[in-house]
Amino acid sequence: MRTLTTANGLHMPQLGLGTWPMKGEECTAAVVQALELGYRHIDTAPAYENEDAVGQALRQTQVPREAIHLTTKVWWDKLQPAAMRQSLEDSLRALGTEQVDLFMIHWPAKDWDLRRSIETLVALREEGKARNIGVANFPLALLRQVVEELGAPLSAIQVEYHVLLDQQHLLDYARAHGLALTAYTPLARGLAAEQPAIREIAAKHGVLPSQVALKWLLDQDGVAAIPKASSRANQQANLDALKVQLDDADRALIAALPKGKRVVSPEFAPEWDA
Ligand SMILES: NC(=O)c1ccc[n+]([C@@H]2O[C@H](COP(=O)([O-])OP(=O)(O)OC[C@H]3O[C@@H](n4cnc5c(N)ncnc54)[C@H](OP(=O)(O)O)[C@@H]3O)[C@@H](O)[C@H]2O)c1
Repeated sequence: MRTLTTANGLHMPQLGLGTWPMKGEECTAAVVQALELGYRHIDTAPAYENEDAVGQALRQTQVPREAIHLTTKVWWDKLQPAAMRQSLEDSLRALGTEQVDLFMIHWPAKDWDLRRSIETLVALREEGKARNIGVANFPLALLRQVVEELGAPLSAIQVEYHVLLDQQHLLDYARAHGLALTAYTPLARGLAAEQPAIREIAAKHGVLPSQVALKWLLDQDGVAAIPKASSRANQQANLDALKVQLDDADRALIAALPKGKRVVSPEFAPEWDA
């Protein structure tokens, strides 16, 4: 599997396991199983209420901690300096680790002191509690401000991205500024696999529609994807997507799909096109 690297020190396997909305023993078992199958990138967050279950999996697995890329986040109501620090401390304790590989602001807040939050994020990296830092769900204008005005050494942005949602502007920006783009909800929670065009491509290659949707993302420079899968069969199918070979005709069909479908847009979401 390819590992995405950035000038700021990121080493992130391109395919990871999303853990929301798994909790407790179900989550622990799914993470242990994924690590057994060969996953080396796990995505969690305090908001998923499963960091302790992920931590339990890290203790159970034979795979050493240093071989695993671990991402966690901080919720948008904890972006003041002391609250952000406490959130990361709580995450480290729950995960049973001294450092996460990537620490991200989960959502931008409204009416917040952006500069102080970003300074804290950067300080936590400098103190070694997070090997890399990033942001999730930031629209382009805000990302630009963080990178160019505040000069934060971000390694990654995490946003919803799949065959039914265009993210070209963010992707161009991420590539130009040396950031990886992690695609969350990469299967559009099943909607991608329902598209006739995706089914047609899958039938042509004798693979699963979900594998077509995933490989389309993984073929793109600088893009990682974190599908959530709990069953062994789905986890393995997503790993096997790496072997699928799409051609130009397939990519043209996918490019022609409608690209405005946002699966995740809670009421606290930012104005996406800002
Ligand atoms: N930063 C953010 O704000 C944010 C927001 C949303 C999500 N995320 C992250 O992204 C991860 C993934 O997103 P998501 O869970 O929203 O959506 P998703 O990965 O697009 O879809 C997950 C669904 O697809 C099914 N699935 C997985 N592999 C499959 C396969 N090979 N064939 C058929 N079905 C398959 C899963 O079923 P089974 O479980 O039964 O296998 C599950 O129901 C989350 O777990 C989370 O870590 C981040």
